[in-house]
Amino acid sequence: MKDQLEQIRSRALAELADDAAEAAIENVRVRVLGRSGELTEIMRRMREVPPEERPAIGQLVNQIKAELEARIEVLQGRLREAALERELAAARLDVTLPGAHLPRGRLHPVTQTIEEMLHIFRAMGFEIAATRDVEDDFHNFAALNFPPDHPAREMQDTFFIGGGLLLRTHTSNGQIRVMEARRPPLAVVCPGNCYRRDELSVRASPMFSQIEGFMVDRAGKITMAHLKGVLTEFLRAFFGAGTAVRFRASFFPFTEPSAEVDISCLLCAGKGCRVCKQSGWTEILGSGMIHPNVFRAVGYDPAEFQGFAFGLGVERTALLKLGVEDMRLFFENDLRFLNQFQATVERLA
Ligand code: DAH
Repeated sequence: MKDQLEQIRSRALAELADDAAEAAIENVRVRVLGRSGELTEIMRRMREVPPEERPAIGQLVNQIKAELEARIEVLQGRLREAALERELAAARLDVTLPGAHLPRGRLHPVTQTIEEMLHIFRAMGFEIAATRDVEDDFHNFAALNFPPDHPAREMQDTFFIGGGLLLRTHTSNGQIRVMEARRPPLAVVCPGNCYRRDELSVRASPMFSQIEGFMVDRAGKITMAHLKGVLTEFLRAFFGAGTAVRFRASFFPFTEPSAEVDISCLLCAGKGCRVCKQSGWTEILGSGMIHPNVFRAVGYDPAEFQGFAFGLGVERTALLKLGVEDMRLFFENDLRFLNQFQATVERLA
């Protein structure tokens, strides 16, 4: 029986070689140490052994059992370690790799331009009022002293939408809406979209935005000098302190006197170039002293109140400021174009 035990032992140890696979190890464990394994079988046959030999055999069984268990433990430990190594190698984290890029959205350059303009007006004490895009003839034309046969009132210029309504052709309706609802003193800017029956082109778009502004107080308190001061201040804040500003007599139905405002050409700084048609100047906005008929239309006595108004096109101004040559780029949503404009709003924040 002792020989038999030695055989079991050496066979098991041979199978438990250094490179034994997990399944082979488990095989040996079950065959030798298992509940009906070889060693258990020997113990069961202890009765066949002469009593005096039994202790020695029992000891040997225990010794072999302990030896094999220890050996199995070592081999399994090594296999567990190797498996862990493999797992770690496969899931290795390289902290030197560049991070994943998260694309960050930003405001459209036209929106940024509006924000920057409003920021300047707000700093000068103007409040901001949103007014409506869908208007009636009275607020878009009649109250602004447009004569009944004015060309802007014709189908080819204005989008009429039935029911006496139209899409506003300018933000000047904001003057009427605000003055109807309130009394002076007023210093208000009205940003918003405007609509005209123009083809989208390098210089024009059927939808565009304007900023309307006006300041009204008792007669004598707001003069043409204030108009010049406010607009010069605004244009220098927006285009740069060195910008030259020129007021040129003009005509609008809703102002008298009226002035168009030019700034020195941003491209040639007033020397004359292709963009300013060699004049050195670029027209930037319309303005004037609010016409007495406009005051009458909103129920103000023109003898009692006086003020100025102005309106400027945002896209045309943005073209100049950002050095963009084609208005259509603002409406095409091409990210290669839009991604170039990111700083304005962050600068104001
Ligand atoms: N409404 C004019 C336009 O759309 C712009 C304008 C000119 C507005 C003179 C004004 C102004 O308030 O005084 O072209």
